[in-house]
Amino acid sequence: MKLLVINGPNLNMLGIREPDVYGKSTYRDLCEMIEAHAKKKNIEIEIFQSNHEGSLVDKIQEAYGKTDGIVINPAAYTHTSVAILDALKAVAIPFVEIHISRVEEREDFRQISFIRPHAMKTITGHGFNGYLEAIDYLAEAL
Ligand code: DQA
Repeated sequence: MKLLVINGPNLNMLGIREPDVYGKSTYRDLCEMIEAHAKKKNIEIEIFQSNHEGSLVDKIQEAYGKTDGIVINPAAYTHTSVAILDALKAVAIPFVEIHISRVEEREDFRQISFIRPHAMKTITGHGFNGYLEAIDYLAEAL
């Protein structure tokens, strides 16, 4: 099984960015945690991060026919991007939406998620562990 983990803008700043919200562990820590988990579960994993909406769309399109499932944290684009929603619908690859923080307890503008109605599952507020839960969920479901 091959899974693709996609991270949106500013997630490369984990550890530096708002540690009270996102914790003190770094983006590298997150990648290492995901890679170790995938290895243990015998899942092939690719991790991609970009600050650019179009690059995220390109990556989703490139996954067509190559990836069994997607774990995606579109970060701020969650709340704004029809393009990411359309890309996910275009490739029709099952995906889990993940957020490190508990978005439903934050500002009003974070209450919109364009992708949520099409996600197999949404995980919020479980910190970095949410990514591992998403991987396990897809591994079980697919
Ligand atoms: C986030 C929540 C978003 O609202 C925010 O813009 C992010 C990170 C999260 O993982 O909690 O950048 O997706």
